[in-house]
Amino acid sequence: MSFNNLDQLYRQVIMDHYKNPRNKGTLEDGTFTVDMNNPTCGDRIHLNIKVVDGLVEDAKFDGEGCSISMASASMMTQAIKGKDIETALKMSKVFSDMMQGNEYDDDLDLGDIEALQGVAKFPARIKCATLAWKAMEKGVNTKEEQ
Ligand code: FES
Repeated sequence: MSFNNLDQLYRQVIMDHYKNPRNKGTLEDGTFTVDMNNPTCGDRIHLNIKVVDGLVEDAKFDGEGCSISMASASMMTQAIKGKDIETALKMSKVFSDMMQGNEYDDDLDLGDIEALQGVAKFPARIKCATLAWKAMEKGVNTKEEQ
């Protein structure tokens, strides 16, 4: 597949998550809730995660933001469901490395998240792509401190 076709495919995956977000809404019985905003634009995310026996049993998000931030939140909630917390944090690190153009561990199957790799070329959008992931990390870390 040529680079142009791949770019187009990635764009379609991003727009599909934006228009048909997975896991949009709130959880009644979440283990933790996080609100975070992107200070550069004010867009925000509200994230609920339910953890049972160290596994992410459910994750939902709500908020307002650009297509990249909302698509990334949809992909993130999809990716971490059913994973243990350690793996979810590892995915976040891999994604952050991908966004910063660093070498990253590709042992993990990131699924649709791969479609966001082109965002690394647009530094102003990296915060959009990482907003949901930072919220997830903050929630996990705050929970562990309790
Ligand atoms: Fe606000 Fe992307 S422009 S999160």
